[in-house]
Amino acid sequence: MMKDGDMELIMEIARFEASVDMEKEYRIGWSWRHVRIWPATLSRLFKDGYLDNVFRSNSFTGYKLTEKAKAIVLANQQEDTVGPQPKPMVNLGDELFTDVIGHEDVKILLKATLLAEKPVHVMLTGPPALAKTLFLWDIEQTFGEQAIWLVGSAISKAGLWDLVAEREPKILLIDEMDKMNAVDMAALLTMMEGGRLVRAKRGRELDINNPLKVVAASNRLEKLSPELRSRFAIRKLNAYGRSEFLTVVKGVLVRKEGLSDELAEEIARKLDGRSQDVRDAIRIARLAPQVGVDKAISLLLGGETGTGSD
Ligand SMILES: Nc1ncnc2c1ncn2[C@@H]1O[C@H](COP(=O)(O)OP(=O)(O)OP(=O)(O)O)[C@@H](O)[C@H]1O
Ligand SMILES: [Mg+2]
Repeated sequence: MMKDGDMELIMEIARFEASVDMEKEYRIGWSWRHVRIWPATLSRLFKDGYLDNVFRSNSFTGYKLTEKAKAIVLANQQEDTVGPQPKPMVNLGDELFTDVIGHEDVKILLKATLLAEKPVHVMLTGPPALAKTLFLWDIEQTFGEQAIWLVGSAISKAGLWDLVAEREPKILLIDEMDKMNAVDMAALLTMMEGGRLVRAKRGRELDINNPLKVVAASNRLEKLSPELRSRFAIRKLNAYGRSEFLTVVKGVLVRKEGLSDELAEEIARKLDGRSQDVRDAIRIARLAPQVGVDKAISLLLGGETGTGSD
């Protein structure tokens, strides 16, 4: 069988052969000086059938790769391109985002950005109750200390820059981004490009070798400056369609609110066409034990069901 390290030697030689014109300049083969591999090693590769000895004189021994060696190179290159790609996904685990029902493309997008070597910042935007906050929350759960979760309106008095300089997170999760104050927004602009803040005190500089990834959520984009928007991949979540809404409501009521499948199904079905908001379903689920599903719906949403007398 092939000796350890021979594969690398053969790949090395293959790279050399690919970089020159073997038909013209190297018709009599290359020598150990060209590939910078010791002659004794080359003659062993020759003996093992990986090299052809195409020319030999007192001062020059010319080699080139045999068909056998080229077949190995080809197989190895295919392994390289097909093999390692799916690997990183395993690390992030399939557990990330199991809380979130549907939104498959957003899950893929966020996983890809979390795995990426260099930052791609993502902002989730769209109407209420579409799991934007849930996405941020799940990232925090998985990344623990490496992530900081912030709400735009409630960043500490020290300010965003000091917070990040001190805790050195890899990921910054910012919910309700549109409510962030101007100073913090300005700091964020610099941070997102891996820049330095001129006013930063000593010990308050950011580690430029540890580029920060930002995942943010916001209902409204209008409040954000164009330069801030430009730094994000803005992913708009659209309101749920009818069947999506049913699936999400059933899932949330069973998993989070602890309802039976039957009751969750009933609430989801009765809300169909009356509400698009998952939070309505949660409120109804919480009141139903007291007043029943129909009454809870009429109390909360008004309208014809129930007694209608109030
Ligand atoms: N696709 C979903 N999967 C699981 N839970 C969901 C989904 N969509 C909505 N929910 C539930 O709806 C509620 C609201 O979700 P969340 O707080 O993430 O919404 P949001 O998009 O951040 O809304 P807002 O814009 O109002 O902040 C939560 O209880 C959440 O569990
Ligand atoms: Mg939210």
